[in-house]
Amino acid sequence: MSDSQYKPVLLRNRGVAEVRKLAVYRERGGYKVLEKALKSEPAAIVDQVRQSGLLGRGGAGFPTGLKWTFLPQGRTKTYLCVNADEAEPGTFCNRVQMESDPHQVLEGIIISAYAVRAQRAYVYIRYEYPQQAAALESAIGEAREAGLLGRNILGSGFELEVHLFRNAGAYICGEETGLLESLEGKRPWPRIKPPYPAIRGLAGEPTIINNVETLTCVLHIVDRGADWFRSLGTERSPGPKLFCVSGHVKSPGVFERPLGVNLKTLIYECAGGVREDRSIKAVIPGGISTGFLTADEIDVPMAFESFTREKNGCLGMGTGAVVVLDETTDMLKVLHNTARFFSSESCGQCTQCREGTGWMYKMARRMLAGGGRSEDLDIIAEQTERMGMMTGQSICGLSDGASYPLRTLVTKFRAELEERMEERKAKGLAVA
Ligand SMILES: Cc1cc2nc3c(=O)[nH]c(=O)nc-3n(C[C@H](O)[C@H](O)[C@H](O)COP(=O)(O)O)c2cc1C
Ligand code: SF4
Repeated sequence: MSDSQYKPVLLRNRGVAEVRKLAVYRERGGYKVLEKALKSEPAAIVDQVRQSGLLGRGGAGFPTGLKWTFLPQGRTKTYLCVNADEAEPGTFCNRVQMESDPHQVLEGIIISAYAVRAQRAYVYIRYEYPQQAAALESAIGEAREAGLLGRNILGSGFELEVHLFRNAGAYICGEETGLLESLEGKRPWPRIKPPYPAIRGLAGEPTIINNVETLTCVLHIVDRGADWFRSLGTERSPGPKLFCVSGHVKSPGVFERPLGVNLKTLIYECAGGVREDRSIKAVIPGGISTGFLTADEIDVPMAFESFTREKNGCLGMGTGAVVVLDETTDMLKVLHNTARFFSSESCGQCTQCREGTGWMYKMARRMLAGGGRSEDLDIIAEQTERMGMMTGQSICGLSDGASYPLRTLVTKFRAELEERMEERKAKGLAVA
């Protein structure tokens, strides 16, 4: 099957008139998979998800079925938290799912809650998504009235309430334990792990946290089976994926393809190529934390295993949010923007992350203002080696997420950065 013949599954209802309404969603087979799921044992669904090889779509690519097996056997309470914070720059897949097909998102949540035996689910949604929150809220209301939520769902004896929580907005709120703190009404400072949330999560109870897209994949695994899921994608990265493509492309948007689709296909076929047919200077493959690729590195399958420090200096495939930068881009401004983002989003608990991101931003500011020195690039490169995830020193993954983009910028685009610094010096810009 060629990439263009692929029929969307996760986005199958996008553009269908009124599909946000329960009646229309049901006419299209909606909630039939829930009926099927409720006839199985929860453990059988967990097993099916394990066999499917589903990797979490929120960025880290952790195996979903395996995560679910970490829940303690004899637990009396379980929470499901749905991560709809979607704060990774360039990422807007969850947004499109929630606004175009909220009942599909909800059906995936109910099935997953049943599988992990949760009686409460919280959808943690970023504040900047008011329409998406409204669409989900309305779907939750309709589902409750129709007996798809609440007590004794569809006569199965299973009980579930789903609550929407609109957060106040910070990148760190998407980190799963920062999310839990925020849900509990506290400052979203990530927690030291272990214990992991599956053991001690929301209000100290066993909690599963998954991304919106991950839970929608669960719906389709229950519907079509683990073998179907494995028939898509690569051996190590199975299934369909939503890819957001933005930046200097002609038709930015969200495109559903099997994992393993070539990055060039996403850019040139799905997103229509580069604006004004210019050439590419750099591409972010999966959200800013993953790092930067040069134009020579973009002939690559979009799969979790494709992006490693050894292969291309990147942290992983992240969220699959592709950002294209064309030949006119000033990479010194990109460096400055990136450093500013991580410095302002570091929560400040860990010294090497707080000081490291702050220090690199200071240098980037100086470079932009015309006071940059060649050795500053060496210092940034060295600093990125010293501030990533460090055992006993980093509480969360943000410090790694800051290191990879800055390291790939100063190592892969050094010649241009030096040139831009010289230009600014020649213009006599003030030193910051
Ligand atoms: C700084 C930071 C921000 C994150 N932001 C998000 C986010 O917005 N959405 C998300 O699903 N995961 C985010 N994550 C990953 C979560 O911690 C967690 O791995 C994920 O929600 C688990 O869901 P999954 O297994 O379905 O991917 C973030 C991680 C870090 C370190
Ligand atoms: S690594 Fe950075 S963002 Fe994460 S907890 Fe530590 S200081 Fe906060």
